[in-house]
Amino acid sequence: MVKTIVWKDNQVVMIDQRKLPMRERYVVCKDYRSVIRAIKGLIIRGAPAIGVAAAMGVAVGALKIRTSNLDQFRAKLDAICRDMVTARPTAVNLAWAVERMKQVADQTSHRGVKEVKSRLVEEARKILEEDIAINRTMGRHGQRLLKDGSRVLTHCNAGALATGGYGTALGVVRAAVEAGKRIEVFADETRPFLQGARLTAWELKKSGIPVTVITDNSAGYFMQHGKVDAVIVGADRIAANGDVANKIGTYMVAVLARTHSVPFYVAAPVSTIDLSVKEGQDIPIEQRDQTEVTHFQGRRIAPQGVVAGNPAFDVTPHRYVSAIITEKGVITPPFKSRLKRLFL
Ligand code: MRU
Repeated sequence: MVKTIVWKDNQVVMIDQRKLPMRERYVVCKDYRSVIRAIKGLIIRGAPAIGVAAAMGVAVGALKIRTSNLDQFRAKLDAICRDMVTARPTAVNLAWAVERMKQVADQTSHRGVKEVKSRLVEEARKILEEDIAINRTMGRHGQRLLKDGSRVLTHCNAGALATGGYGTALGVVRAAVEAGKRIEVFADETRPFLQGARLTAWELKKSGIPVTVITDNSAGYFMQHGKVDAVIVGADRIAANGDVANKIGTYMVAVLARTHSVPFYVAAPVSTIDLSVKEGQDIPIEQRDQTEVTHFQGRRIAPQGVVAGNPAFDVTPHRYVSAIITEKGVITPPFKSRLKRLFL
C-alpha cells in the first residue's frame, strides 16, 4: 500500500498529493517550517495524516534546536508547537498530535534535552503506527455495516492518503473487501482540489477495488436511481453532540442520503472527536484562497474580477448521521452521551 508519510534519516518524507495521480513524487521536509508549508499547501492533507505530519514536524523541529539548556530548548519547542497548530484550523487531529508531543516533552524534560529529542522522534513514529492500527480496527467494526454487493458513495479522500495508511472511510471499504464482500465505490470528485477524482480513485484502483468517479452534483442522481446503498465519509472534527465537520459538500450528501433513505456513516478515530466543542457551529471552518475556485491548474476559469467563496469544510448536523464508526466500536444515536462514554 502507498506510503503517505514516513520518518527517514531524521527527515519527514511525504508523497506530494498535489501531483497525484499524474506523478508519484515525494517531498522531503528537513525542518519544521517546510512541514507547515506542506500542510498549508495540501502536499499532505486529511485529518489523521495532518496529525502525523504535525507530530513529525515537531520532532524534526526539536532535533534542529541547538542548545543543551533545557529552559531555552523548551521555549523554542513551545514556539514550534504554537506555529504548527496554526497550519490548518479545522482538523482537530493536528492540535491533538501537537498536544501529545508537548506532553512527552513535559514528562521527559527532567532527563535532559538529548533524551527529550529522542523521545519526541519515538512518539511521532508511534503516532503513525498507531494510526494505521486504529484504521484497521475501525475497518473491522465498520465493515459489518456493509453487505456483499454494497455500493458505497464517498466524498473527498478518507483513504490511506488521508491517514498514516489504510484509511478511515476507505478503511471500512477495504476491510469489507478483505472479508470477502464485493464492494463498489462511487467517488465524488470533490471540487476544488479533486481529492475524490484524483486521490480516492487512484488508491482504490491501485487496490483493485471497483470505483466510479462522479461529479459532486450527480450524487443526487445516483441516489435517486437506487444506485447507492450507503454513504461513508471521514471527518475533520466531531463535536460533542455528534455534528461532523468534513470536506465541503459532505452536508449536501448527508441531506440527499436522508431524503433517499440511504444510511450515512462517518468513520473517524476517537482523536477526531473534540468534546471541548459542544456543537458543530463552534468548529472553526477554514476559508481557503479564492484562486482554488477561480483557477484550474494555474489557468483562470472564472471571469476576471469575479469573487469566489471557498470554505474548505462544512458541518453535517448529527441528525443526518446514522452512525459514527470508531476504533472503539460503532456509535449510534444518541451521540452526546455515547461519544462522551468513549473517553471514560
Ligand atoms: O482539505 P482536506 O483534503 O485535508 O480535507 C480532508 C477531509 O475532509 C477528509 O474527509 C477528512 O480529513 C477525513 S480523512 C480520514
